[in-house]
Order: sequence, then C-alpha cells, then structure tokens
Amino acid sequence: QSLNRRQFLVLSASSAGAVLLSQCSRGQTQTVPKAPLSLPKLYTSKDGLLDLELEASYRQVNLDGKPTNLLSYNGQVPGPRLEAKPGDIVRIRFKNNLSDPTNIHYHGLHIPPTGNADDVFRRIDSGESALYEFSIPQQHPGGIAYYHPHLHGYVADQILGGLGGMFIVRGALDEIPEIQAAEQTFLFLKDFVVEQRQPMMGRMAGREGDLVTVNGQVNPSFSIPAGGLARLRLVNASNARFYRLALEKHPLYLIATDGHPLSTPVEIQELLLSPGERAEVLVQGDQEAGQYRLLNLPYSRGQMGMMGGGMMRRDRGGPGMMGRGRMGPGMMEGNDQDSPQTLATLAYTGQVEPQSIPQQLIEVETLPEPQTVRQFELDHGMVPGQGMVFLINGKSFDHQRIDTQVSLDTVEDWEVSNTGVMDHPFHLHTNPFQVIARNGQPVPYQAWKDTVLIPTGETVRIRIPFRDFPGKTVYHCHILDHEELGMMGTIEMKA
Ligand code: C2O
Ligand code: CU
Ligand code: CU
Repeated sequence: QSLNRRQFLVLSASSAGAVLLSQCSRGQTQTVPKAPLSLPKLYTSKDGLLDLELEASYRQVNLDGKPTNLLSYNGQVPGPRLEAKPGDIVRIRFKNNLSDPTNIHYHGLHIPPTGNADDVFRRIDSGESALYEFSIPQQHPGGIAYYHPHLHGYVADQILGGLGGMFIVRGALDEIPEIQAAEQTFLFLKDFVVEQRQPMMGRMAGREGDLVTVNGQVNPSFSIPAGGLARLRLVNASNARFYRLALEKHPLYLIATDGHPLSTPVEIQELLLSPGERAEVLVQGDQEAGQYRLLNLPYSRGQMGMMGGGMMRRDRGGPGMMGRGRMGPGMMEGNDQDSPQTLATLAYTGQVEPQSIPQQLIEVETLPEPQTVRQFELDHGMVPGQGMVFLINGKSFDHQRIDTQVSLDTVEDWEVSNTGVMDHPFHLHTNPFQVIARNGQPVPYQAWKDTVLIPTGETVRIRIPFRDFPGKTVYHCHILDHEELGMMGTIEMKA
C-alpha cells in the first residue's frame, strides 16, 4: 500500500500508526526463533548487464511481521539485493517518489565519484527520475557493498526510515570450492524507531531505534546441515548502533572485511561491526543437531556510558564537552544493555559430509610506501545557538570547500585520530584502503577496508592507493547523525 508523505507523517506520529508493534525487542531475551529468515528480493545481472527500476517511496512494510510506515526501495525494507559480476554494466533507472530530494550512493564499490556513477553531490528532487550507470571493476574479487541515500541533510533520516540494500559482487572469492559448498546467508542488521516517541539516543550520540532486526525480522532462524559450513554475509545498516556479534559455542572464521576477501581465514570469537561496515564469516557446523543464538553482546560507544549513569569504558581525559550533568540520565544508554540480545538463531537440519574451512582465499596485495602522510582529527565542539557540531580538523562540512587534494597514481597514509568522547567509524568513498597500524601498533593481518572504527582516544593509520577516477567525493563518520552534524570532509582526486 502506497502512502504519501503527509499520511506517512500522520501515521508515524499517531499511536495507532507507528505503534503497530506490540513487542519491543529492546533487551529481548526470547530464545525461540520466530520465523525462517527471509531474503530481500534478488536482481541479478544477465549477459553482462544488471538493469532494473528502483523506486524510493513511503510504504507500509512488514517489519517483524507487522505493517509499519517506512521509506522503501521498491516497497521493500531492506531494499532488493542487487548482484553483478566484475566487468558487468549496472543500469539503475531510479524514481524518487519521496517528498524530499535524495540520491543513491554505492558504498564500497570502486567506481567513479562523478557523472551517472557514484556522485554524492547529485540531487534527485521529489518526483524526478534519474539514471545511474557504471561498470563493476574487472579486478573486483567479490564481496558485499551497501547502497543507500547520500544527500547531505537527508541521509540520516532516510536511512533511519528504512532506505538501503545490499549490492553483491560475485567474484573469485565465490569460486573457491569450500566457499561454493557453504550455505550462504545474508544478514542486513538494522534498527528502527517504532514504539518510542523519541529515538533512544539523541542526534548528538547518533540515533538508535528500539527494534533491532535482521532483514526486517526479529530473531529469525536459518539453518545449515550438521557438518556443513555457513557463510554469513553481514551488513551494519544502522545509523548509529554497533553490533558486537558472537555465535554461541562457535568460533567465527573471518573471510572478508567490508567489500573484500582476506588472504586466509582468521579465527575470531566475536566480530564488532560499526555502522557502514560489512564482513563475511564462515561457521563450521557441529556434527550433532542443535540450535545456537547469534548474539549482539553489550557494547559502549566511547565514554557516553557515563551520561547514562554507567561506567566509563576508558579512563582518559576529563568530562570534556559532554561531561556528566549535561545530559539527563538514561539519554545516552544506547545498546549498553547489560544482557546480550538475540539477533538470529542458527539450527542444524540434516547432515552432510564434514566440510572444511578453506586454507587460502584471495591474496591481499602489499601496498608500496606512501608518498604523502596526512593527519585528520575527529572532534566535536559547541557553537552558540547551534548546539553541538562535529568536526574534522576543526572544520564542519562545507560542500563547496575542498579539504583534501590528492594526485592520482600516488599512495597516501592518513593518520586519523579521535580526540572526542565518542567512537567514530571513519569512511572514505571511492578508494578502499588498508589499515596499517592502531595507536602505533601494526595490525596483525592485511585487509581492505572502506570504513574503520576509530574509538575515542585512538589513532588509526590507513594506507590508500589513489589510482583512477578523478573527481570530488567525501570522507565522513558513518554514525549518520555525526555526518549530518558536520563530521564530513571533501576530497578531490586529480590526474
Ligand atoms: Cu555508506 Cu558516505 O557512506
Ligand atoms: Cu560510502
Ligand atoms: Cu561519529
């Protein structure tokens, strides 16, 4: 059922409209999975072309099995899964049926930041149609990208309202026999504001919704045969919520970070995904039948816990800008719930010959030493009459200013420091990078990333090859309210 914006707002504001959900999942402890995990509709390329119509509109969409007023792509939340191969042409005929302007960003795809490709400065007004067209790079090894709106001033509300979907590139990673044999599952993690009148967290902290979903469902179940391998393909599509993921009684084998495979699987006990980050993990199935919960463990985003009356996670600095007393108690508690949340449940059904974790994945290249090293400082401050602003190198976002100019065919190191009291996931468009060091310590393995968490008080050094695609784009904090409140800079790549 289609809605116009007025109906949407009226329904959203009324207790009968938005509060169709009788159950709040916050702090949920239910152990019984509700329904099998459903996957967003798939659009896949044929004969080298992925061609589809995509419409953004207000819709009533089933969320946790109940009709809810949301913003949708093609009437679905999450939006459809788009899938293409290296070298394919992608053609998206987009229609904006929202009352506000919007656009689409292809987060994690290495495509031009200009023209009909990935221009985040493009504005598609209400009622307008627009064509997106680009090709997937030939060398893409396969992985998950994330498409979502990116028009400054509208990004946070439109993503919080439901817009976003997975963009899957099928590449060399998918050809590895063990990976092919694995049962792949897509988990799009997103929270929604449904019961509460105000989002739990204010804009300054980054808004979190009260209903935490996987593919729009609360605690769905998915299964693999006992002895089999599960390949979990995860996207954190939340505005501000972090997911600290663990699967009961199972280690995870990390095989990809953001859109790119690792050289070899890395065994981990838990996986922290901040907004905008993606990851892929393998799970080795037991021989016996059983049911295990995928958990979101408690996590505190920086020192905000102190405002909620909790403990400071790190013992550094003074109270700073957001010291105790500025915020009412409880305002900033976020997902600082003290018990784990159940996101989904894995069950074993049937049996197969034991499958093994692959030894080798896709070689991650070693980048040459950088020609240029730059410093970036993430911080916040108060502007009288305006409240809190979020800054990069002391500046609030201005789309007309060029903050960083780089030359193509160079490699740069960026040292990004977080001197504020909140964690910030730092994201660079167009060009993926490798994390080189955290607080001066080299990282244990090489991996491509496009979003990296910079916790409060820490400095992360990333190495970025700028090879192709001249033009202007952005880097920003992927807590989308922080991006809207100024924590975004522009970069111009020049031949
Ligand atoms: Cu996913 Cu600039 O964003
Ligand atoms: Cu992006
Ligand atoms: Cu931030």
